[in-house]
Parts: sequence; C-alpha cells; structure tokens
Amino acid sequence: MNSTIIICNRLTIMAEELTIIKSKNKKDQYASLVPQIEALISSENDLVANLANIAAALKEGMGFFWVGFYIVKDNELVLGPFQGPVACTRIKLGNGVCGTSWAENRTLIVEDVDKFPGHIACNSVSRSEIVVPVRKDGQVKLVLDVDSENLSQFDKIDKEYLEYLVSIIENKL
Ligand code: SME
Repeated sequence: MNSTIIICNRLTIMAEELTIIKSKNKKDQYASLVPQIEALISSENDLVANLANIAAALKEGMGFFWVGFYIVKDNELVLGPFQGPVACTRIKLGNGVCGTSWAENRTLIVEDVDKFPGHIACNSVSRSEIVVPVRKDGQVKLVLDVDSENLSQFDKIDKEYLEYLVSIIENKL
C-alpha cells in the first residue's frame, strides 16, 4: 500500500504588540507601558533598534504628538530615530530646548514652548515639551525629546518615568 506523507513546516511568527491601556491617569499608563518597553529592548543591544522601538512605544502608548532622539555627533545634535511628523535635522549646543538640556545636562520641562526663549519650532502644533538627556560617564550622548499638542502636558510623573526609561538606555551604552 502506498502512503503519502505530507510534511508541514511550522512557521514561528514573532509578533511584538503592545497592550495599551486607556486611562486618564498617566501614571497608570506609564506603569503598564514601561515594563513592556523594558521587555522589548532587554535582549537587544543595537542602539538604533532600541531607540526606534522606544519612540514607537511611547508615541503609541502615551499618545504623544512627537517622540524622538537627537544624538550628539561632532558637537551637534543630529536627528535620530523618531515617531511623528518630520523634524529639524541638526541642533547646536545651547540652542532650543534640546540644545539647552544638552548644555545644562538636565531634564527640561517646558509648559509653553512659545515662552521658552530660542525654542526651535519644528512643527507649529507642538505646545509643550520635555527633554531628557542620556549620559555615558556623565557626558550627554543623546537626548530624548517628547512634544505634545497640549499646553502643560508634562510634569514630574513624566520626568520620573522617562528618566527611568533613559537609565535603561544608559545601561546599554
Ligand atoms: N523643539 C525642539 C526641537 C526639536 S522638535 O521639537 C522635534 C527644541 O526646541 O529643541
């Protein structure tokens, strides 16, 4: 008796999906999202891949207008992985919110970008902003920049969680 053997190759499909919680409480949103981002980047050491996924996860998970990184190259900030509308490519030390955060080596929260002297308006929709420096051996190597369409979007809760996320990046630099 003849028999036919059919061999099925089973495909393993890897899907990376975030569980997004809908809450008006941003602490709850961060508390749900940040461990997922940690898991997403825990086994990957490529900086660009991790920055890209962090930007995508923060944009999708928190609903921000623009999330991205500027990387220090040849004494300038150069646009890195981001999510949102196209943005300015290069920022000098001390210029805008990003360049000031870099120069002062500290997180800056800007409640109203129109009131920040020298703010660089890559997009007129942006109303408030937070910039968090990412350091190696105390030196700023890149900054995380998050923009919102709302005035006064960012506060100490954003600072706490975004600085924590940045500490994970720093541990991989
Ligand atoms: N507003 C920033 C420039 C970068 S964009 O917001 C993406 C600044 O003043 O440095």
